Amino acid sequence: MCGIVGYTGPQPAVPLLLEGLRHLEYRGYDSAGLAVVSANGHLEIRKAAGRLDRLTESLKVAPIHGRVGVGHTRWATHGRPSDENAHPHTDCTGRVCVVHNGVVENYRELRDQLLAQGHHFTSETDTEVLAHLIEVELTELPEASDGEGPRLLTACRKALDRVEGLYAIAAVSLDDPDLIVGARSRAPLIVGLSAEGNFLASDVPAVLGETRRVVRLKEQDLVALRPDSVLIVDRYGRQRERAVDVVTWDRTAAEKAGYPHFFLKEVYEQPEALERTCAGRLVDDHVVLPELSGLDVESIRRVVLTGCGSAYHACLMARYAFEAWLRLPVDVDMGSELRYRDVALDPSVLCIAVSQSGETADTLAAFELARAHGAQCVALTNSVGSAITSLADHVVYQHSGPEVAVVSSKTFTGQLTTLLLIGLALAERVGRATPVSLQKVVGALTDLPRSVQEALATAQDSSRIAERHAHVNRLLFLGRGVGYPTALEGALKLKEISYIHAEGYPAGELKHGPLALVEPGSLVVVLATRSATLGKLISNIEEVRARGGSIIAITSRGDDLIAPHADEIIRVPETVELVSPVVNVVPMQLLAYYAAVARGCDPDKPRNLAKSVTVE
Ligand code: M6R
Repeated sequence: MCGIVGYTGPQPAVPLLLEGLRHLEYRGYDSAGLAVVSANGHLEIRKAAGRLDRLTESLKVAPIHGRVGVGHTRWATHGRPSDENAHPHTDCTGRVCVVHNGVVENYRELRDQLLAQGHHFTSETDTEVLAHLIEVELTELPEASDGEGPRLLTACRKALDRVEGLYAIAAVSLDDPDLIVGARSRAPLIVGLSAEGNFLASDVPAVLGETRRVVRLKEQDLVALRPDSVLIVDRYGRQRERAVDVVTWDRTAAEKAGYPHFFLKEVYEQPEALERTCAGRLVDDHVVLPELSGLDVESIRRVVLTGCGSAYHACLMARYAFEAWLRLPVDVDMGSELRYRDVALDPSVLCIAVSQSGETADTLAAFELARAHGAQCVALTNSVGSAITSLADHVVYQHSGPEVAVVSSKTFTGQLTTLLLIGLALAERVGRATPVSLQKVVGALTDLPRSVQEALATAQDSSRIAERHAHVNRLLFLGRGVGYPTALEGALKLKEISYIHAEGYPAGELKHGPLALVEPGSLVVVLATRSATLGKLISNIEEVRARGGSIIAITSRGDDLIAPHADEIIRVPETVELVSPVVNVVPMQLLAYYAAVARGCDPDKPRNLAKSVTVE
């Protein structure tokens, strides 16, 4: 939530900051702003509520110039989206300026203290206290260097010591005009290194146009950037060395590449992304996951899977596989619930936390809880070096590549596929599943990119059906077994991007309540691919039809059982039932996409949402 950028170097900063922000807009688009240190020694600030385009337009009307600056794109937490609440925020003197991603949880207390000391505030944000705290520390620091690096660095470090919450910040001060100070705690921040100056950003795509050399800052790191130097210290001011990574993917991976929307592009990238997820991990009918070699498998008595949103759905789906293959109890909890439950966790528990961003606050808190109780902790993420990795005993990357659309598609199928790989790897080690059944799954995973490619070929059907029904205001998604969490994911996708109210239900539960919603004209999407419970599902379909509901069925190609019971059909390739959600979710992603487009909604930037949910 929120994206931050910074640049210090010989080039004009504004175009670089705007380009960086353009690649961070997925993190929030309630407002945008930037500040540069101008040649005449002023902090020039421009901010605008709304999307980045508004800021860009305002800069055309009233340009600002400088070679050092910071920028921000906001997802509002404290204070409504407005020009005043847009970042950057300054101190009382107007000499310090801060952009912030995160939440200052104790901001009220800090604000009261600062007000009592005579500070005045101009916004409703939590962030503004940071600028004032830095001002206070700068005032109290001696003029001469204290041997710990630049004064602004020390001031930020001391100011952040008073802050509870999570943050990635970038700060500039007129007292040291070519310097930018960055800091992170449970929010991402990277440094981009270039011969033409240095960059700070929330995510790699923001700097990829200028450099591939990046440093992923670690938890509690602070950094002092000048045009030709980078100094990293920890929260105690001790100098730290951090590795320089060379990013191998290029910016086209974070561009639309001819697609009208990122979401559609990412849906179509799924076969290739799944190839990467499985690459080198499926060898001779076995799963190879050296990342888990240090796991004490013998001691595992229970598995707890946790995540939020689509990641939670991936966990729900994986539960069916883990139970079948490991013969162990498997609990699945949303991060936001698990973190506050008085739950029995101990060293015999294997906790797998799933988060593509690696930043989701609720998932991190749940993971920390499991860790505090001594559970073995595995993180599954798409983001190298993200906060979740620092909490984990073992990290498994899904390698889905960058996902820009706020709504997940390829990272969701990547999460589920990686969970299945983990389940298989554990099953081989605990030896409780039959080798033949595991081999069948390995075969299905090997074929998965092709199966998903074939499922994408149903796009015309999804588009036609979505356009025909784009006017409806509510929809039910039904499934049984792994079809149930698939239904949940289908409903979530539709809600998120088309704003049609949709609910996913286990089909067997229909008669216990939701059937009351069905009336003539009701539309119900049913996950009806081949499965052990297909016969039961057909009975549930008939319960809907008997009450005048219409059925859109997602069925297995070559299966004629469902046709007589459905009004519209989308046929996908058949795969092993436990793997089928990866394939079956594809037409649901496409239905949601085409419904959104038909209703004039922006599928890449759904209202009120941001990609990384770093707040509770
Ligand atoms: O980065 P994470 O996997 O932790 O994100 C979890 C959810 O916020 C995310 O899946 C969300 O539900 C998406 N909007 C789904 O499209």
